Amino acid sequence: MKIDNVKLDSEWVLAQFPLLADGAGDFSFFDNAGGTFPCVQSNSISETFYNQYKMQPYGATEKQAEAGRLMDVGRAKMAELVGVEITDLTYGPSTTQNFNNLAHALTDHIMTGDEIVVTNQDHEANIGCWERLVQLKGAKLVFWQVDAGGELQLDDLRQILSGKTKIVSFTHSSNIIGSINNVNEIADLVVDTCAQKPLIFADGVSYAPHNLPDIGKLNVDAYCFSTYKTFGTHMGIMYASKRLTKLARAQCHFFNIGVKNYSVFDAAGPDHAAIASLAGIADYYADFARHHGMNDVKNLNDARAFACAIMHEAETALLSELLAFLAAKPNVTIYGRSGVAGREANVAFRVEGVSSQSIVAALGANNIGAKYGHFYAYRLIQALGLDLDDGVVRLSYAHYLTKADNDRLIAALDEIF
Ligand SMILES: Cc1ncc(COP(=O)(O)O)c(C=O)c1O
Repeated sequence: MKIDNVKLDSEWVLAQFPLLADGAGDFSFFDNAGGTFPCVQSNSISETFYNQYKMQPYGATEKQAEAGRLMDVGRAKMAELVGVEITDLTYGPSTTQNFNNLAHALTDHIMTGDEIVVTNQDHEANIGCWERLVQLKGAKLVFWQVDAGGELQLDDLRQILSGKTKIVSFTHSSNIIGSINNVNEIADLVVDTCAQKPLIFADGVSYAPHNLPDIGKLNVDAYCFSTYKTFGTHMGIMYASKRLTKLARAQCHFFNIGVKNYSVFDAAGPDHAAIASLAGIADYYADFARHHGMNDVKNLNDARAFACAIMHEAETALLSELLAFLAAKPNVTIYGRSGVAGREANVAFRVEGVSSQSIVAALGANNIGAKYGHFYAYRLIQALGLDLDDGVVRLSYAHYLTKADNDRLIAALDEIF
């Protein structure tokens, strides 16, 4: 979606994030791929829930009933926001845990000799669980390897798909180099190539903060993202298709299979307040859309698309300034695509003769938050031939960063190298 002539209202946005609204002053945060700030809409539901309704929900008293109602609203709004049915979503403590549960749930589906395709562009959350599963079942892990630039090429995937491929699991975008993979193009290739129709999973943790997707339009069997990177509390959300849910060996108690609000992929059950607070994430997107001119918010999914288009444009403007600055430095290597096209607002780089550690420390001394290392995309850093300890400097944006933040960052980097 493209929204013409609507500019992001930074003053309004900052007021929605208590961590920034209180006059963050000269603090600028560029580690948003690690986790975003929570919005006031989510925080206020958490606060109300913990202060007034933190008890066993869905009971006969008014308070218990209200606790359950707030949780139902959270589930319903999140499902509408990302364009899926309420029963298709599983909530867990994190995406790593959700992928791990998913792999456990598929132990009956994977047999000796089967193949699971993963990529070495991924975060380990979407590799290790599949490696453990193939080891358990005498199956084979097949890597869709990145090219020299760290990119995944469709031709390479075509070569490794076979009649034995049972699962293909890949990242929607790289949490290191920021490259976006076209989920439906990959899914089409898998479906067209493999008559047995493998299960297709995508990791959206790095992508969702920049452009929360309409998951219902993605041709995947599972899609994972984390709410602590999408302006909410610390949780992981997994969409699972009905086909996948049918195949799963239930991880929940046997008597809860098919029971409302229970997922076969969740052995535990999530924090009640965090479930209720999901409504706050959805409210934020709706408030954002209204504030920026969407007068009639009929559907949260439409509000999401409208808001994301404006957020994306604002992030891209800052990203292009940073990329231009870094590209002009002869001693800098930027990983991933050279321009903003096909790249989320996430940049990884190294500077010849200067450690990533020292750059991040110097930024920290300027009150600019950033991180260095492998960011659990260990195998990608290995494939790029980089030092695993010093890794890369990663600068990742969220739409609440301003031009002033970007200018401070660029001025500080200019002093450092
Ligand atoms: C691309 C990607 N996938 C998965 C994860 C793991 O998410 P979680 O921390 O919710 O387990 C991360 C976390 O940084 C990530 O960046």
